[in-house]
Amino acid sequence: MATAPCDRGEWGSRAGFILAAAGSAIGLGNIWRFPYTTGQNGGAAFLLIYLVCVILLGVPVMIAELTIGRHSRRNPVGAFEAIRPGSRWRIVGFLGVLTGVCILSYYSVIAGVTVGYIFKTVAHSGASYAAFTANPLLMIPLMLLFLALTVLVVQGGVRNGIERWSKILMPLLMLLMVLLIVRSVTLEGAGRGLSFYFKPDFSKVTGKTFLDALGQAFFSLSLGMGAMITYGSYLSKKDDIGTSALCVSFFDTLIAVMAGLLIFPALFAAGMDPAAGPGLVFEVLPVIFARLPGGTLIGAAFFLLLAVAALTSTISLLEVVTAWLVDEKSILRRRAVWIVAAIAFAFGLPSALSLGAVERLGDLPGIGMSFFGFMDWLFGNVMLAVGAVFISIFFGWVWDRRASRAEIEQGCPSYRKCAPAVTYLLKFFCPIAIGIVLFFLFRDLVAAG
Ligand code: PHE
Repeated sequence: MATAPCDRGEWGSRAGFILAAAGSAIGLGNIWRFPYTTGQNGGAAFLLIYLVCVILLGVPVMIAELTIGRHSRRNPVGAFEAIRPGSRWRIVGFLGVLTGVCILSYYSVIAGVTVGYIFKTVAHSGASYAAFTANPLLMIPLMLLFLALTVLVVQGGVRNGIERWSKILMPLLMLLMVLLIVRSVTLEGAGRGLSFYFKPDFSKVTGKTFLDALGQAFFSLSLGMGAMITYGSYLSKKDDIGTSALCVSFFDTLIAVMAGLLIFPALFAAGMDPAAGPGLVFEVLPVIFARLPGGTLIGAAFFLLLAVAALTSTISLLEVVTAWLVDEKSILRRRAVWIVAAIAFAFGLPSALSLGAVERLGDLPGIGMSFFGFMDWLFGNVMLAVGAVFISIFFGWVWDRRASRAEIEQGCPSYRKCAPAVTYLLKFFCPIAIGIVLFFLFRDLVAAG
């Protein structure tokens, strides 16, 4: 990827782009966030609603973001400005940049825990997840380490580092997951986990289920904040936006569904609580590792690969904000990455300390969530949904339909056949469906406040 704004560069190849976009999408969202959110929302019914959200909301919004990015060849703020100069649409880009820094801040905290768990597994430490996250001397240095790693990669350019690494490591992660799934589903008592995950109980569905499913779909696919606008801006005109969006969404969802298949059977076999929250995978996985020959090595390898998956996601978060500073503020890339990382670190500190180290941050008065939980709810769910509404309205109503269609058809001539369906979803279904969910959320907040 280029370092100068006038020479932005492009992905090395089409496979390179799909890998990078899949790298952004596949991460802690799939393996850490998806299982515990599913667990908190009652299992199978949530899985079903989530899948519908991915297909009807996620795929069209991803097509919209990639198209806006490739057409404008700019960061999210610049992209809206390029297509609708002088309008307020650039605010949507700003919201995306802000959301990017905020997600990066707390995401790095859990990514740091993942790195810590590599060593914890090797050291055979029996300390609980709660004890681990309550230790500021682990949480802060690990978060810092992870942010620094992200900076080093983004500074060096995405093409050489990440494109090459992802090609080997992501398939390896999938392979290891298959192995662990086989162990998990053959544990005694695993059957109850499978019915929890696959037999829907719709009595557990509430308004919150819909917001969580929708937020999870956008979070997992890296949508709603311009990450895909930024990655799309490095696409060549020959690239096929439609097929790329489908491929990325498919693999991202596959990994999430696999993560559930890995976690729930083992969780029920061990008699744990599916609604335990963010610590879920870190508590359940060691149960599986303990029951495998060579479990220590397998466990360490798994956390290592998960950390790499998280790294390819933090890279995309950092890249959005960096691209904005480089393109619009003419700050050198080398300097921009450190500025963004420093801000993310400052925002991340209270998150890192809210998982047990500082009691007050663990239960914010009047909010009933930890600082970490609040950041994830506000930026990982609500703001991504808000961003996605605006992106679909922009694509469906504001941007000239012939221009957007011509942009997609370059490299994807068969888009002609799907264009009416995609346009319909972006024009009507996405804004209305997400709008209804946000309306009820707002109403509940007003009622509670
Ligand atoms: N999709 C990433 C994951 O699932 C997280 C992410 C969200 C990355 C938003 C970029 C933008 O881990």
